[in-house]
Amino acid sequence: MIRRLAIIGVGLIGGSLARALREAGEVKEIIGCGRGKENLEKAVELGVIDSYTHDIGEAVEGADMVFLAVPLGAMKDAFTAMRGHLAPDAVITDGGSSKGSVVADAEAAFGDLPAMLVPGHPIAGTERNGVEASFAGLYRDRRVILTPTDTTSPEATARVRAMWEACGAEVSEMSVEHHDEVLAATSHLPHMLAFGLVDALSRMKENDEIFRYAAGGFRDFTRIASSNPVMWRDVCVANGPALSKMLAAFAEEMNDLAQTIAAGDGEHLLEVFTRAKEARDRFVDGLPSRQSTEQIILSNSNISFHVSSGGALKGHLRVPGDKSISHRSIMLGSLAEGITHVSGFLEGEDSLATLNAFRQMGVLIEGPENGRVVIHGVGMQGLKTPDGALDLGNSGTSMRLLAGLLAGQGLDLTLTGDASLSSRPMRRVTDPLMLMGAQVETTEAGTAPLHIRPVDTLRAIDYELPVASAQVKSCVLLAGLYADGETCVTEPAPTRDHTERMLRGFGYEVQRNGNRVCLWGGGKLTACDIDVPADISSAAFFLVGASIAPGSDLTLEHVGMNPTRDGIITILRLMGADIEIQNERDVGGEPVADLRVRHAPLKGIRIPEDQVPLAIDEFPAVFVAAACAEGETVLTGAEELRVKESDRIQVMADGLQTLGVDARPTPDGMIIKGGPFHGGEVESHGDHRIAMSFAMAALRADGDIHIRDCANVNTSFPAFDRIAGKAGLHVEVKHG
Ligand code: S3P
Repeated sequence: MIRRLAIIGVGLIGGSLARALREAGEVKEIIGCGRGKENLEKAVELGVIDSYTHDIGEAVEGADMVFLAVPLGAMKDAFTAMRGHLAPDAVITDGGSSKGSVVADAEAAFGDLPAMLVPGHPIAGTERNGVEASFAGLYRDRRVILTPTDTTSPEATARVRAMWEACGAEVSEMSVEHHDEVLAATSHLPHMLAFGLVDALSRMKENDEIFRYAAGGFRDFTRIASSNPVMWRDVCVANGPALSKMLAAFAEEMNDLAQTIAAGDGEHLLEVFTRAKEARDRFVDGLPSRQSTEQIILSNSNISFHVSSGGALKGHLRVPGDKSISHRSIMLGSLAEGITHVSGFLEGEDSLATLNAFRQMGVLIEGPENGRVVIHGVGMQGLKTPDGALDLGNSGTSMRLLAGLLAGQGLDLTLTGDASLSSRPMRRVTDPLMLMGAQVETTEAGTAPLHIRPVDTLRAIDYELPVASAQVKSCVLLAGLYADGETCVTEPAPTRDHTERMLRGFGYEVQRNGNRVCLWGGGKLTACDIDVPADISSAAFFLVGASIAPGSDLTLEHVGMNPTRDGIITILRLMGADIEIQNERDVGGEPVADLRVRHAPLKGIRIPEDQVPLAIDEFPAVFVAAACAEGETVLTGAEELRVKESDRIQVMADGLQTLGVDARPTPDGMIIKGGPFHGGEVESHGDHRIAMSFAMAALRADGDIHIRDCANVNTSFPAFDRIAGKAGLHVEVKHG
């Protein structure tokens, strides 16, 4: 607790400190000091200070804490005036926005730097001035920077820190020089620009015109030119050295832009503007791309869905874009020569993780805006080493495909992900990559983070996949683009072939012979346009929902119907579902159709094993269909489900059992006996597809279903609740 606080300069800053400390009960007595009698009397009247004096020496007498809130230009005189009056235990701190000048002034006034001086800077304020404007909450959740010098006593720093923390501020420490550089960049330079721009324009002949027609942009940009000129003169003079450096760097940037404009180089302008927009959006909105995966988990882990029981699905809807194709469009578009235009891009967290990774590697990507993305390809060798690790969140496809694509780039990289992704098997991709001569390390357990070390060349291999995995196949093929010779992959069963199709779309030759796919390394990709169809894996929830809910009649538009993905339609039809395929067409190398699905009584089946890879992501939804079918459904040959975003066999069995369904997990599948079931509370274990499958189950449950841990639905299906709601499923999103 502060015994006696002396505030030199009782305005917004000093007054608010006094009020905050009083409110916190952290100060016994406050004495104010300043020139204006009226202001000080007002401060006493408002209860901000207990008494006042105009004499700095008198004010600091007997004080154990002295706070200087005078203009920077008055600091030196203030220090000089307190010389010889300070108690030995008195700590001196200040609120000046430049620290080098304060330290220099103190040194000049005292002869050397007092150990009890802790220069500080609360980053807070309002456009109003004076003690009347002061309030106790000014510093709550705001930053205060302390810049202790080499001579500052740690005890004094601790006392100032405690004082600000009592006001609710977040205190950080940095060197005087660093503080001044940071503030020159973030505060002083923008003020110089605003003052300078308004002054320059106002002195032009046509200034009347200019100001008459000045629109919102001019107002926004120049708002701070209405600040106090005396104060800003002081600040800019005080922080002269750091500010000059910043101005010089900025002038160079402006020169560059002037040259760019003179040369009519729109491409370069767009690059600069897009980079700036990206940076500002991140900074202003705190977009997820800036947060670490763990932060996102912390803030989102408590989202749950409460889904009302009963109802039917009706109407027409288009589910979001295909996740697999969205990932690949960014990857190949980035490596291509030229500009790739993508429409229908999935703006889910998984595909955005891929997009952000390529931005981090220097690729200019515009959007996404309404599913449109424009990728300015950098060519096969154009990626740059990112600043830090590439955080791929929850996305297995990003990590496994990128491992291959990046293995032969000669870059040093680290790929990380969230807790779920960090527990999924990665040796399935690092093993073949090592055979190719790549250096990709996993943890001891064979999991992420992955460390990719630069190597000179990759060797082509002829690889037989031990598991039917499109991710592993794609990983090896993408590494093969950089290998010497012909890389071939043989798959035990057909898996999704989007990589092969899209490579061809980008003009890269890929040969298929039965289950064997081959390509030669060393070629190049040429930019193209990509129309991403709606994701059949997202449509699957609605195919099941409409099939199980009496009265349903729903049309899903523009659904990707790639034959390596349509297992869900085969399986549901075998169970008796009524799915009509309409308007079959080809869109940019991928088949697409509209699917009309009506309620139909389902029966249990033995799911053909050859359908497993063709419906690999759809089994959580299929299990719900099975729970509503008459008789027993048996799935075998699907052990892969145990290593998806969650162990989908165990997690679905647990949830179904909670609802009263006879569901028995087996090592490689499940046996489910259909019948009536009730509502209840189930866990999704952060797995998007589990969450959406149980949401559909509510259509047939005899009570509401509450699903926990649903934030990851955003990885593949943003706005699921809204889109499902349009069709007739009532999903309430609960926070906390
Ligand atoms: C994917 C392949 C599949 C699938 C995943 C997406 C892809 O994984 O489950 O959601 O885009 O290549 P596996 O290759 O591990 O089966």
